[in-house]
Amino acid sequence: MKDWKKLTSNQRIERVQQALHENVNFMHDISLGYPASKLDGKVFYDDAPFLKDAPVLMTYVANPNHIGCHTTGTSETAFKGTQEMEREVLDIVAVDIFKSAKKQYDGYIATGGTEANIQALWIYRNFFQNTQQAKLAEIMIVASEDTHYSIAKGANLLSLDLMKVEVDFETRRILDNELETLLCKAIADGKKYFIVVANMGTTMFGSVDNPDTYTQLLEKYNVPYKLHIDAAYGGFVYPFIAPDSTLDFANKKVSSITIDAHKMLQAPYGTGIFLCRKNLIENVLTKEAEYVEGMDLTLCGSRSGANAIAAWMILTTYGENGWFEKVKILQLRTDWICKQLDALGIAYFREPYMNIVTIKAAYIPTEIAHKYDLVPQKHNADNQWYKIVLMEHVEVDSLHHLIEDLKKLILI
Ligand SMILES: Cc1ncc(COP(=O)(O)O)c(C=O)c1O
Repeated sequence: MKDWKKLTSNQRIERVQQALHENVNFMHDISLGYPASKLDGKVFYDDAPFLKDAPVLMTYVANPNHIGCHTTGTSETAFKGTQEMEREVLDIVAVDIFKSAKKQYDGYIATGGTEANIQALWIYRNFFQNTQQAKLAEIMIVASEDTHYSIAKGANLLSLDLMKVEVDFETRRILDNELETLLCKAIADGKKYFIVVANMGTTMFGSVDNPDTYTQLLEKYNVPYKLHIDAAYGGFVYPFIAPDSTLDFANKKVSSITIDAHKMLQAPYGTGIFLCRKNLIENVLTKEAEYVEGMDLTLCGSRSGANAIAAWMILTTYGENGWFEKVKILQLRTDWICKQLDALGIAYFREPYMNIVTIKAAYIPTEIAHKYDLVPQKHNADNQWYKIVLMEHVEVDSLHHLIEDLKKLILI
């Protein structure tokens, strides 16, 4: 790890103040051209004394707009101070966590995992169209049935077909034979270019895909593909403790990654992260965005710079080692609940090195699921699983109550 350091509270406040100082200040500067200002002072109290000690709130009030992408080309100069801090966040995530070489990636803080995933699909659809003159009907998205629904949403928006590959019910692993059969059929039906989405932590199970399952087959059939990793959930967990993960930029086959800061990092909603290798994001340049300096390479348009500052604050409050310790504690809690479930003979799925435990619904009466707010795989009678997500607030104390309730049922 190179850039990711723990800073003191004063260092963090000074860094944010300096960045805001480099931005346009709507309170004092003469700035006539933007359809933007600081937050409404009648409502958001820009002179509240506590703001000077609250860098994220200070930034919300100043209201910088991070429109566009700031890892390539030019950007709006009015917000250059906080844009630089966004680049510091991206450097930590891309280089220190996901092993990109420095300055060899592009990316931005998206509104969330959905946008970041769709951004990836959009880039690859256009990439195949721009470089191979691919027709829409020749491009196909490939992902497991456990993949987040944002991929189906993206397929729909971009008018692309989606191949959903079945997984084994117990292990949640992609069924190789099924994948090969579907791939051969797709090729026979005229599909020539593939956009693969591999998961670093599926929403319901936390299961992590082996990208080789896809890439080896696609290479066997000699078809061009791009590989995107959806690490929206697992991106701030798995890379810290899983030995030998190949789901990062050290793997030449990986072209882009989604990581949500508003999940495990506990940043405010609206803080997703999209990263891709250099020379890809230009495929979604919107040339019509002429009033935006540097034009726009992102899906969302205007976005709050305060989200970048929030992510920066969290990362620099912990530092690399502090974050590792936090993730380790969540692992210990996950180990604890798994041990209790084993002792009770209750069947569940848990991906090693992840902090989601998904219990077979047959062991969980509805009242218990409601009492502990367990999330079902399906909100209907077909539901077969309930999940527990070991977040910061999910402590052994609360898990203990669940286990006691389950024990009582078994003794009846
Ligand atoms: C694996 C995965 N990808 C993408 C998303 C979508 O993220 P968001 O809700 O931030 O758009 C989620 C959300 O739960 C997720 O679990």
